[in-house]
Amino acid sequence: MPEVSMTVNGKPAKGQIEGRTLLVDFIRENLGLTGTHVGCDTSQCGACVVHVDGRAVKACTMFAAEAEGAEVRTIEGMAGTDGTMHPIQQAFRDHHGLQCGFCTPGMVMSAAALLAENPTPTEAEVRDYLEGNICRCTGYHNIVKAILAASGQDVSRIAAE
Ligand code: FES
Ligand code: FES
Repeated sequence: MPEVSMTVNGKPAKGQIEGRTLLVDFIRENLGLTGTHVGCDTSQCGACVVHVDGRAVKACTMFAAEAEGAEVRTIEGMAGTDGTMHPIQQAFRDHHGLQCGFCTPGMVMSAAALLAENPTPTEAEVRDYLEGNICRCTGYHNIVKAILAASGQDVSRIAAE
């Protein structure tokens, strides 16, 4: 079997894979990083979003071999080394942006990519960006609020839900 190597959360990672191995399966099964979820088999849910060379990517839509040499970041790479939550994670917690939590890793990774390219998005821009991330629990309101809060915007006038 061919070998693939990449950097994952700042550390070298490699493994033997089949050509058809998806990046999400390499991350979960070879590397044991199970924070990246699989919620569908139709590339719709966004639970599997990671960053590949700084871009948000649905890891179920990419072969692991295509990430050869890439810098990959998963949800496990978001918190500080001392366990301090990333500001986006903290905002999800503070603003009740999760219930069951299944969609949350993908939501946080998508939010981080959004804020990297648009540091102060409008509510409409956040909703538009999250089109590829499905949440079955929250109704999205508090997720959007959390992301706006993480961007440093005043969300005190946005009602809780
Ligand atoms: S697992 Fe649903 S989009 Fe990737
Ligand atoms: S919090 Fe349950 S799917 Fe989003």
